Order: sequence, then structure tokens, then C-alpha cells
Amino acid sequence: MADTQQSIPQAGRVIRSQLTGIGAYLPRDLISNDELAKRVDTSDAWIRERTGIRQRYLAQPDETCAFMATEAARMALADAGVAAEAVDAVLLATATPDQAFPATAVRVQAAIGAKGFAFDLSAACSGFIYALTVADALIRAGQARNVLVIGSEVYSRIMNWEDRGTCVLFGDGAGAVLLQAGEGDGSHADRGILSAHIHSHGDLGDILYVDGAVGRSDRPGHLVMHGREVFRHAVAKLSETVQQTLVACGLTIADIDWLVPHQANMRIIDGVGRRLGIPAEKVVVTVDQHANTSAASVPLALHAAYTDGRVKRGQLIMMEALGGGLTWGSALVRF
Ligand code: UT7
Repeated sequence: MADTQQSIPQAGRVIRSQLTGIGAYLPRDLISNDELAKRVDTSDAWIRERTGIRQRYLAQPDETCAFMATEAARMALADAGVAAEAVDAVLLATATPDQAFPATAVRVQAAIGAKGFAFDLSAACSGFIYALTVADALIRAGQARNVLVIGSEVYSRIMNWEDRGTCVLFGDGAGAVLLQAGEGDGSHADRGILSAHIHSHGDLGDILYVDGAVGRSDRPGHLVMHGREVFRHAVAKLSETVQQTLVACGLTIADIDWLVPHQANMRIIDGVGRRLGIPAEKVVVTVDQHANTSAASVPLALHAAYTDGRVKRGQLIMMEALGGGLTWGSALVRF
């Protein structure tokens, strides 16, 4: 819906954004570390030891940001059993849109036949958490009832393949969830997003950036990262935001069933887990399989743990991410 339509809950009830469907798309081409080492001066041992990455999927030319997002969105809708015409908003988090405009989200809207409105959101690797937060606010404000939240990335197109310090770290893919307006009593027993928190520090914009712009054929841009600097901020900021979200809900780390972290580096995931005191068995890890897929990494990890039966209805799931900006944030959802 494009117009404000207040969904007024009954007295004592609140609107909740319930996560009713999950979808994913991974490109056809699977590239192992050994295969990459044939093209780049690196080794499987270095990549695994420093990052935990074993392989990544890289998009072919036909696997555009919009294509992958559309596939993931269709899967999320099928999972929820909801028709595309019922979707009234598409929020797509990406740092690698197909065009400067129109937004890749409107391409997805057209491809699936959704109604309402659609827009892209740029917060690099934190994009999915940002998009979830905005979608939750839209739903609670009565602006939309059925919102597709998608992260879709083709970082292979912004890689500097001469820079072994970055090109081994990233992969392509898309993940999507459907959020639907529901009701709850306002307690943490409700199904849906219980709390979400986002942050940015623009003064750290130069430690992870793209040195060009989408839509500029003369200078499409390559990713530049001061890895150690990013690393230094990651564990502290991610742990802080998770604690902040827990406190907002009156919960503790022991209440969480699953931590679904941004999949950038196994050492960061372990570091956050240790600082929070969450057992490794409760942490979903896909960085070994997907590498860092930026805004797609959290929904791809969620999808993996959902399809293999680990993540179940009623469980509490904490998601977090940090990326260029710096941007970071976390969201707690009862599935
Ligand atoms: O999603 C966005 C968030 N981003 C991140 O979370 C990334 C955070 N940073 C990191 O994960 C790590 O900093 C990296 C994995 C990127 C790098 O690990 P590091 O331990 O900080 O390595 P380094 O960049 O300091 O490089 C150490 C050595 C260097 O060689 P010398 O100078 O010690 O001889 C590099 O040239 O490793 C070398 N090196 C490599 N060797 C083989 C760097 N990249 C490679 C490579 N293969 N791919």
C-alpha cells in the first residue's frame, strides 16, 4: 500500500513485524580457495587460517543484483504461502545495485508483481539489519503490512582482483525475508521483531569504501579496505549493539536460541561470541561456505539454519552486522 493505513491494534495489543518466510539465492559458480589461488597470489591455507573461508559463489553476468534478489524474494513468499500481489513494500539492501537508478528494488517489484512501493537502502554489510529496522518501523506505523526485506550483492563486480587482501574475502548472493504485520501483547513472548538498533560513525568512512560510483562506466569503483582497522572496531561494536538490543527487551544472552552474525571473518564471529559468552553451538556460521556476501550474509545464514532444521518457530534469534560507514546494528526476532 502506498498510502498510510493505520492498523489499529486492540487495547493492550501492539503491532509486531512477524517473520513468516525466508528465501535465498546463491550463484551457480562455486569457487574454492584452491581455484582462486590459480588466479590470485594466495593460498587455501592463508585464507582459511585468517578468515575461515573455504569457498565462495561468484555471479555470472546474467546473475544480476535484481535477478538474485527476485529469486530469493520468490522463495521467501513461497515459504510464507503469501502471493506477490499481497506485498506492499520491497526494501532492498545493496551496495552493488545494477544501476544508479531506478532502484534495484523496483525491478524486483516489477518482476514479482508486487504492489505498493519499493526502494534500495545502502548501508554496506549492515544493510540487511538497517532494512529490517526500517521495515519494522513502517509496519508499526501502519505504512505497510507485508514487506519483503532483501539483501542482494554482487561484490565480485567491485573487487580489485589485483588486491589479494580483499578479493579473497567476498562472495555474491541474495537472501530475503517476508515481514508481516501481526499483533502481540508487547512482551518478549510475542512473535516478530522485538527490538532493533542501528548506528553509524561517518568519521570512519575511509577505512572501508568503494573508490568510484555505480553508473560511472569510467570509474565503477573498487572496494578498498583497511582490514586491521575494521577488525579492531568489529568485535567491540558488535558486542555492544547485541547487549543494547537485549537490554531493550529485558533479556540476557542466555535467553537467545541463535546468534546469526554477519559472516565476514571467523575470527570476528568467535571474538563476538567469546565477549558475549554465547556457546559456539548457538552461533550460525556460513562464512566458510559463502565468504562475506555483505548485506546478503545474515539472511543467507538464517536461511541455511532454517532449511537444515536448526532454527525453529518460537525461538529467539539475534542478528548483527557491521560494515562500511562504519555502520552497524542488531535485531532480535522471535521467529
Ligand atoms: O564486512 C565488512 C567487514 N570487514 C571485515 O570484517 C574484515 C576485517 N578484517 C579482516 O578480516 C582481516 O584484517 C583480514 C582477513 C582482511 C586480513 O588479515 P590480517 O591478519 O589483518 O592480515 P594483513 O592484512 O595484516 O596481512 C598479513 C600478511 C601480509 O604479508 P606481510 O606484509 O606480513 O608479509 C599480507 O601481504 O598477509 C599477506 N596477505 C596475504 N597472503 C596470502 C594479505 N592477503 C593475503 C592473501 N593471501 N589473500
